[in-house]
Amino acid sequence: MKIYKIYFSPTGGTKRVVDILGGAWQDEKEVIDLFSWNGIPEYSFDGDDICLVAAPAFGGRVPALAIERLKKLRGNSAMAIPVAVYGNRDYEDTLLELKDTLESIGFHCIAGIAAIAEHSIFHQFAANRPDEEDAEELRGFAMKIQEAVRAAIHGPLTVKGNHPYKEAGSHLTPFADDTCTGCGLCAAQCPVKAISEGDFRTADADKCISCMRCIAVCPTHSRTNDEAVVSRVVEGLEPICSVRKANELFLEGMR
Ligand SMILES: Cc1cc2nc3c(=O)[nH]c(=O)nc-3n(C[C@H](O)[C@H](O)[C@H](O)COP(=O)(O)O)c2cc1C
Ligand code: SF4
Ligand code: SF4
Repeated sequence: MKIYKIYFSPTGGTKRVVDILGGAWQDEKEVIDLFSWNGIPEYSFDGDDICLVAAPAFGGRVPALAIERLKKLRGNSAMAIPVAVYGNRDYEDTLLELKDTLESIGFHCIAGIAAIAEHSIFHQFAANRPDEEDAEELRGFAMKIQEAVRAAIHGPLTVKGNHPYKEAGSHLTPFADDTCTGCGLCAAQCPVKAISEGDFRTADADKCISCMRCIAVCPTHSRTNDEAVVSRVVEGLEPICSVRKANELFLEGMR
């Protein structure tokens, strides 16, 4: 038995959640990074493997690129735990979409988790989460899942979300100011090549998936989003996002 940590984590919050959860298993671990992706990986899962599969909520949905890459894997009846990571607003259909996708490629979903991480656009929401309180809670979820696996508890797994899924939201394309040194790191790490080698300051809005990786990796903090748009959205989100939300566990056979 192996624990696979499979994640799409543009700015690191999703990875942190998976690392905390994965740390609760003593078994051998392997990482599949769906964001820094170099083609179709050669993986063949076994029925007793457990795959923690995590993606962030983008407008209450799984990022389309994460779904596209995930669909290259084959589950072979391995156990999977879909994990939706969100920035303290709502994850809406993210967890359900992740679970549906995993089942469609042959995984057996035994549990689902919705977890909070710092909002990767509006950093004032869920700042520094997952924190120690989250880590305790997530480790507790992992223990409950391990007990359910040992006791071979089976039954339907119901997670929050609706069919048909909501429409994916609008998006923001970051750009750089004149402090940009032209180092090219943003272009090298953009998953859809939206930043041209010829002009690092702008990005192609039609290609950009608003993942915020380019902002996170810029060593001179030269990249930002449109401030007017950000402050307008923050004002609207403030009442919903300022109250601390709890992580959630959904277990197979749980009512
Ligand atoms: C384009 C985009 C859309 C987002 N949509 C939501 C959302 O609908 N609800 C929410 O609570 N957080 C939302 N977030 C916040 C992320 O889900 C959250 O910060 C997550 O931890 C990001 O994962 P990462 O740190 O692995 O990049 C969004 C972030 C981005 C970049
Ligand atoms: S990472 Fe920052 S400094 Fe480097 S090219 Fe991109 S915007 Fe400019
Ligand atoms: S340009 Fe868009 S897709 Fe590329 S790293 Fe930046 S936010 Fe992500």
